Amino acid sequence: MIVNIDQNQCAGCGICGDICPRHILETIIQNDEKNIIVSPERSHLCLKCGHCVAVCPSSCIMVDGLKSEEFFPFRESGIHSDQLVSLFSQRRSIRRYKNKRISRNIIHQIVEAAQRSPTGTASKSTGVIVVDNPQILAIFSDHVYKLYEDLEKNLKNPIARFIIKRKIGPKMFRTLQDFVMLGMQWYIHWYKQGKSNEILRDCPALMLFHSPIFEPMSAGNCLVSAFHSIMMAQVLGIGTCFNDLIPPACNMVPEIRNLLDLPEDREVYASITMGYSKYRFKQMPQRKLAEFRYIDSFGGGSNR
Ligand SMILES: Cc1cc2nc3c(=O)[nH]c(=O)nc-3n(C[C@H](O)[C@H](O)[C@H](O)COP(=O)(O)O)c2cc1C
Repeated sequence: MIVNIDQNQCAGCGICGDICPRHILETIIQNDEKNIIVSPERSHLCLKCGHCVAVCPSSCIMVDGLKSEEFFPFRESGIHSDQLVSLFSQRRSIRRYKNKRISRNIIHQIVEAAQRSPTGTASKSTGVIVVDNPQILAIFSDHVYKLYEDLEKNLKNPIARFIIKRKIGPKMFRTLQDFVMLGMQWYIHWYKQGKSNEILRDCPALMLFHSPIFEPMSAGNCLVSAFHSIMMAQVLGIGTCFNDLIPPACNMVPEIRNLLDLPEDREVYASITMGYSKYRFKQMPQRKLAEFRYIDSFGGGSNR
């Protein structure tokens, strides 16, 4: 059995079954007594999310592969909502970094935050690679620019263009053509002139989030992990910027895959550049949603 219950300790409260997303634990009543059993039909559906273990008042549940030392006592965070709002508001995307390395002690704290992010299937499948060696970053950067330079040339060829569009689909193609490549022409030009690096932004550290290709929700998992990391970086005084130009290069360029030692069955789905911000922002952004509303009636009437 994947899930085991110490029946001598179990008080039969049934919280474990209620909290389980697949109701693998069931309450049965025998001789007026409540007993918790593991459903023989569904035990194999266990996600190993550990909720049943974590919630059990008698600590009598064990899940295969989840060690007791992987659980720690629940503590209130002590963070107030206004502190969190202020953190979200203060954080800006940092695109210009000081030429100063981030200590590995700080990087470890940022990775720790990534580690604490949830995944869609409760799997421990997200991997993190940090590149903070300036020489390796320079080689990495050359390969990334080579990819986009080749892409720029290929997009001018009607046959290659057609093949690219079929391969990446119309939505991605439009993003590439109408957004990415517009700036890219300049990025390549400036990089070749040695003027600036607008893709890696001369960051002292690059953090890559990878996941198995066939893992459900791989991209979402990596993005959530990256989000945890940027917020931790923010409180540690490290500036970050999400970077969507780097993951395709990690996945498509064999030299980069080799450099990263990225297994064949994995892809990079999110990346962040990190470093000490060169400039200080004096004002906070006013970010806005496109809309927010409730649906309060069946006719589509809403209450904003
Ligand atoms: C999913 C995502 C991907 C992004 N990709 C890039 C990128 O590739 N390069 C970049 O310079 N900024 C990137 N950004 C940063 C945005 O451009 C930035 O959030 C936006 O300009 C607003 O600036 P702010 O974050 O300081 O408010 C990305 C942001 C998000 C949320």
